[in-house]
Amino acid sequence: MTALIEFEAVRFVYNAADRSAQPALDGVTLQIETGEYVAIIGANGSGKSTLARHLNALLLPTLGTVHIAGMDTRDRTHRRAIRQTVGMVFQRPDDQIIAATIEEDVAFGPENMGLPPNEIRARVRKALETVNLWDVRLRPPHLLSAGQMQRVALAGVLAMQPRCIVFDEATAMLDPAGRRTVRLMMEQLHAEGITIITITHFMDEATEARRIIVMDQGRVALDAAPAQVFADDQELHTLSLELPPIALLNQRLRQSFPELPPNLLTAPALTSALDALPHRTATAAPIATQPPSAQNSLIEVEGLGHVYLKGTPLEHRALRDVNLVVPEGGSHGLLGATGSGKSTLLQHLNGLLRPQEGKVRIGDFNLNDPHVDLRAVRRSAGLAFQMPELQIFEQYVGDEIAFGPRLQGLEGSALRERVRWAMELVGLDFDAFKDRLTFALSGGERRKVALASVLALQPAILLLDEPTAGLDPVSRRELLAHLQALRDTGMVLIVSSHRMEDLARMTETLTVMADGSSILGGAASDVFAAEGQLRSLGLGLPAAAEVASALRARGWPLPSNVLTAEMLVAQLVEITNRA
Ligand SMILES: Nc1ncnc2c1ncn2[C@@H]1O[C@H](COP(=O)(O)OP(=O)(O)OP(=O)(O)O)[C@@H](O)[C@H]1O
Ligand SMILES: [Mg+2]
Repeated sequence: MTALIEFEAVRFVYNAADRSAQPALDGVTLQIETGEYVAIIGANGSGKSTLARHLNALLLPTLGTVHIAGMDTRDRTHRRAIRQTVGMVFQRPDDQIIAATIEEDVAFGPENMGLPPNEIRARVRKALETVNLWDVRLRPPHLLSAGQMQRVALAGVLAMQPRCIVFDEATAMLDPAGRRTVRLMMEQLHAEGITIITITHFMDEATEARRIIVMDQGRVALDAAPAQVFADDQELHTLSLELPPIALLNQRLRQSFPELPPNLLTAPALTSALDALPHRTATAAPIATQPPSAQNSLIEVEGLGHVYLKGTPLEHRALRDVNLVVPEGGSHGLLGATGSGKSTLLQHLNGLLRPQEGKVRIGDFNLNDPHVDLRAVRRSAGLAFQMPELQIFEQYVGDEIAFGPRLQGLEGSALRERVRWAMELVGLDFDAFKDRLTFALSGGERRKVALASVLALQPAILLLDEPTAGLDPVSRRELLAHLQALRDTGMVLIVSSHRMEDLARMTETLTVMADGSSILGGAASDVFAAEGQLRSLGLGLPAAAEVASALRARGWPLPSNVLTAEMLVAQLVEITNRA
């Protein structure tokens, strides 16, 4: 019997006419059987999406062959059958969404398959119910939040009932609850016998697959079970990967508690191992946190409201009564479910959107003043969008990043150095990337270009909307370190993220958004202490807070506001009398 997916010495070069072009796939041979659950991980630009696009004949090998259910993807007569066999949910959902309403969009595939209307209706309904969008099926897809759009794309694929579904970073824009839903769905589809292939930069997601393929510079570097792939820390790092958050925490804890077993990958496993340590049970007071600074406020938002497409049938309220105070010299995080209004709020903080209701003040600029100098506002507050595509206009990477500084009057070697500096901050090699075409980049590379072009402006206030989405683990960690360094030089960071780990690391104060309103704010550790509320909003906890919470439930006298690995270690050392 042949495998469902068979790659035989596949080489792929995007621009085959250019003799110096590097192959994006460089001799890939692999087989995936029906019913497998496979994760593909690897550095930005390592060839993951290119490989995925070979799975349903969107790309054809330059050399070598790809067979899907025995069909050669080069044979045009099989194209339709191949696309019904393998469904794709992409990194960028907006590429995939075409129709005027969500319902029509999901019906598009089954209609093309020539199914009878009853069957189409039943499939569309089942698919939309699975992704929890049945109630909003008549809304136009382009008005949805990024996370909702990703679910529409998935519903469109489910309605085709393919044998194999490929998720190319389908969870990158989702909030923790949305990610959990998609992961459960993958698990369920897998149980139904559908082959699941998931490409991800979330190492904890990869551990849920039964097999992990690691890509490196267009080649398969590792192909093994999760426990094996995550066993060799050193090797992971050279492949731009890292351990899942719980395993990283376990590693840190083992420095103080060497009796903990190595290679614990999940929170329950780590909790049980810790719970076996002898400890006292007397209760403890919360860790004293810095009260949200009494310094002067740099940004003040009061009673802000915003309605998109006001006065049209598509009117949609995105913000209501939002309040936000950001002190000078701090770093502030925004968290909230997808669609809760974080991006809309951020776009008010550089004057891209003007207040319809309520007040916005940024430094000395009053955004309610119709004559406010918007160019000056944007010079002091730089915004990196959630979807980098929305902000990249130039043809070449170097020009894109130089665009802003040029407007500021930089030229010659000063300009060049500024561009180089910004590219290094995001981990793009200046010489390798400055002359690359912006449209011919991987998802993560594009994100880096968009970030670099904002960093190159050296704004006083840096507004970052999901800055680490789509970055590989090493790029992400390095970017976070660079941002922390910038913060230490006085740059104010305002960051929205679905990654609780990143927020815990980067920001001192947090605002929680729900349904367009700011509902909770304060010191990061205090906000994360409101565990029940966060969970009910579909948010999660950073790994250390999660393990602390589980231990607390088992009677450990841990304060409610343990946030980082360092805080957890300090508490555990004390409770177990190791000091
Ligand atoms: N349309 C394109 N034209 C030319 N080169 C491309 C194009 N798309 C991707 N590349 C290049 O091919 C290589 C592999 O890209 P690919 O998109 O497969 O990476 P990836 O592993 O999916 O990365 P990411 O994690 O950033 O999504 C990279 O060097 C990338 O710059
Ligand atoms: Mg990709």
